[in-house]
Amino acid sequence: MDPALRPIVVFDSGYGGLSVLKELTRELPGEDFVFFGDSANAPYGPRTTEQIRRLTMDNLAALDREFSFKAAVIACNTATSAAIEDLRARYAPRPIIGIEPALKLAADRHPGGRILVLATQTTLREEKFAQLAAHVGRGCTVYTRACPELVEFVERMELDGPRVEAYLADLLAAYPAGLDAIVLGCTHFPFVAPTLARLAGPDTELLDGAAGTARQTRRRLFEQGLLRPTPSGRLIFRSSSADPQVLARARTLFETP
Ligand code: DGL
Repeated sequence: MDPALRPIVVFDSGYGGLSVLKELTRELPGEDFVFFGDSANAPYGPRTTEQIRRLTMDNLAALDREFSFKAAVIACNTATSAAIEDLRARYAPRPIIGIEPALKLAADRHPGGRILVLATQTTLREEKFAQLAAHVGRGCTVYTRACPELVEFVERMELDGPRVEAYLADLLAAYPAGLDAIVLGCTHFPFVAPTLARLAGPDTELLDGAAGTARQTRRRLFEQGLLRPTPSGRLIFRSSSADPQVLARARTLFETP
């Protein structure tokens, strides 16, 4: 089979990767995608790096056995920081695209600005983020905050309402008013972006890495001659959870604009 006709796997610990899948299907509407959320093992953030690496490698191996993917998008900042090098070594030369907090984009758009990065504890403690923060410079003031509770809200599909609002208001109260940007450094967080944007106010820009990751995926497929020659656009949703509601919710989240 022509490798270009094979699907692209999109992997996350749970529902978060759907925010990336949305951008991928916009950027590459003719491609076939298999979305896999490891909801049975979510959240990844509080786990050890080794556990996250193992879960990511094992899940990708099972997906490869079933789908022989032509490329994989690790639509999870946490799994990217824990496993991207190992995945690239294992699947070379196939493109393995990761995601990282959009801190560089935030610093480019707000030189010297005050930027808050929201992510998981693993993303923030890993070397990859330290390197990113060290390179950003431009005299920005960068605040970081691990928010495991926010992942849990999204996994429960509690995307707005008084409890989410109280949590986010409390979180923002710890930082100076008038932040220039908030980086959504976990793919679950764009699902609470409307509430966060309202609380942060119109002068704070919310940024995430989903669109950049989708563009990067297109570039990598093009470079390796892997763009689908004939459009298809099939979408398969998979989850490690035995609860059928989980897949139904994934579809709903994907279809919600
Ligand atoms: N969605 C994931 C990320 O982008 C992680 C959420 C979690 O499982 O803790 O980091």
